[in-house]
Amino acid sequence: MSDDSSSRIVADLRAWIATAPAGAKLPSTRTLVARYSASPVTVQKALRALVAQGLVESRPGVGTFVQAVRPARPADYGWQTAALGTPRGRRAQMSTVLRTVSNDRIALHSGYPDRELLPVRLVRAAFTRAARSDAAIGRPPTAGTPELQSWFATELATATPAGVLPPVAGDVIVFGGSQSGLNTTFQSLVGPGRPLLVESPTYWGALMAAERAGVRVVPVPSGPQGPRPAELARAFEQTGARAFYAQPHFANPTGAQWAPRTAARVLEVVREYGAFLIEDDWAHDFGIDSVPVPLAARDDSGHVIYLRSLTKSVSPSVRIAAVVARGPARDRILSDAQAESMYVSGLLQAVALDVVSHPGWRTHLRGLGQRLAIRRDLLLTALREHAPDAVPELVPRGGLNLWVRLPEHTDVARLVRDCEDGGVVVAPGDEWFPAEPTGAYLRINYSGPNPGAFPDGARVIGRALARQHPDRCPAGGADPDR
Ligand SMILES: Cc1ncc(COP(=O)(O)O)c(C=O)c1O
Repeated sequence: MSDDSSSRIVADLRAWIATAPAGAKLPSTRTLVARYSASPVTVQKALRALVAQGLVESRPGVGTFVQAVRPARPADYGWQTAALGTPRGRRAQMSTVLRTVSNDRIALHSGYPDRELLPVRLVRAAFTRAARSDAAIGRPPTAGTPELQSWFATELATATPAGVLPPVAGDVIVFGGSQSGLNTTFQSLVGPGRPLLVESPTYWGALMAAERAGVRVVPVPSGPQGPRPAELARAFEQTGARAFYAQPHFANPTGAQWAPRTAARVLEVVREYGAFLIEDDWAHDFGIDSVPVPLAARDDSGHVIYLRSLTKSVSPSVRIAAVVARGPARDRILSDAQAESMYVSGLLQAVALDVVSHPGWRTHLRGLGQRLAIRRDLLLTALREHAPDAVPELVPRGGLNLWVRLPEHTDVARLVRDCEDGGVVVAPGDEWFPAEPTGAYLRINYSGPNPGAFPDGARVIGRALARQHPDRCPAGGADPDR
């Protein structure tokens, strides 16, 4: 075998590939051997080099083909800068929680539960049944299939106290995930240039949706017990806002659950100001030490717009959520939903309904709470032991995250980078603040893969922190990396 003859074949084939259409088949090895008077080994070596250069792909047993996308001259997209102008908002970048990372990393950043927390068997069986049904073929109504609407309404109705009119199926609009529901709700009920009160910190996706709808976000500080009702009233008064977006149960990112008195007072304030409470019950199925009772269950006068998602509890591939709204607000949301996406896949609606109506669903949810408790406590123990400066003040009673306040003057971006260098991915808290962050925070998720690696993850966080605060040595000894 000679390197020279292999390079000669590569050069010759490159010239041929440059003019060949994408997907064109290269001559067989035997033909190339004859054409170049080279050995099969030399020809194979040349073909491997072309594969490595991304010019061809080899399909075993079929042949070698010119790559569909070939590296060409660097594209010049400069004209787009002029056509697009400056971006509308500052939140154009992708959120950390949506990053996919390789399996060798310890992933504490994602917002989506690992498959061991999902009802995998129920979902697979539901897909099989739905594929055989008319749901795989037909077009569902814009507001959702009546059966699924009915299920969402009944869920909320079971929490409705006596004396309050329970919601009905017609109040429910099915969305392809809560994110889509938030986008439409902000657009329909607030609108461009108008103020929307939000807890601070709050869900980054809600901030993105608000920005997209062009609404003006007004932060209202929120602690472990929820927002201070007096502060909320002041914000309504000062801004003239008519809507407040909030997560009363296991908030993302803080894990906070509002005290019952706070919840009751917030409802009163919202009514007083003739406003909407947009209640995002994203973690309804992730209660650990507490069962969330939606505020929406206590409202029959159309003040609460209620969002309930199944995406994270049924399957991230079954993106189904509902917005429950009454009165003209419901009609406006429905009309915008129609303009946005017309309807949500009937197949996915059938799958979601099949899963949540199955007797195994309740059993799954009971086990889920226990598994989340184990994971949450495992991560807390690991942080206490290896990263005592990263122990959260609040132990969440549900949800998927720990919200960690770091020592003053921590450079969060550097910390996140150092953790990443150590194989651990965490989310910087800044992404959850509607305005300047009020401190250095990390959001650490305990629902990702491999909880057995939590102690290693905590160790890396502890060391990265110790590098920035050498006077505060982490538990478990000095940093061996220093
Ligand atoms: C608070 C909150 N609301 C809404 C969503 C979006 O839910 P979905 O996946 O159903 O779009 C998320 C997802 O992380 C969330 O954390």
